[in-house]
Amino acid sequence: MRERLLRCARKVMKNAYAPFSNFRVGAAILTSKGQVFMGCNVENSSYGMTNCAERTAIFSAVAKAGPELEIVAVAVAASANDDHGVPCSPCGACRQVIYEFGPHAVIVYQGEKGPKQTLITDLLPEGFRLK
Ligand code: THU
Repeated sequence: MRERLLRCARKVMKNAYAPFSNFRVGAAILTSKGQVFMGCNVENSSYGMTNCAERTAIFSAVAKAGPELEIVAVAVAASANDDHGVPCSPCGACRQVIYEFGPHAVIVYQGEKGPKQTLITDLLPEGFRLK
């Protein structure tokens, strides 16, 4: 499953709209129902409007399958200037969005020293929750 998710992340990475950074990112999420949703980064001339791959995948999953989303795992792949397999751990904003739907999610990504697999709670201790 880990390899399947990574393959999906690499595939959707090719759809990234990243003319400003040339940093293309793909993300694939596995839900508790066994479905896989994918997303890529979408940049904007007004840089702050950029949406990361992870959030694109999550928002697309909610749009397609509804708000009961439970994220089991997330795989992230990135390329910079056509150099593949470059390090990319989910940014802070995406960690919080992953945590919302997957407080126990496993995250697979390329670290500085090779492939990594970790828990969202290790990447985001004490994530915010509105009770
Ligand atoms: N980016 C992602 O898609 N996910 C991350 O977790 C980190 C950053 C994108 C945003 C922007 O399009 C590009 O990478 C450079 O920051």
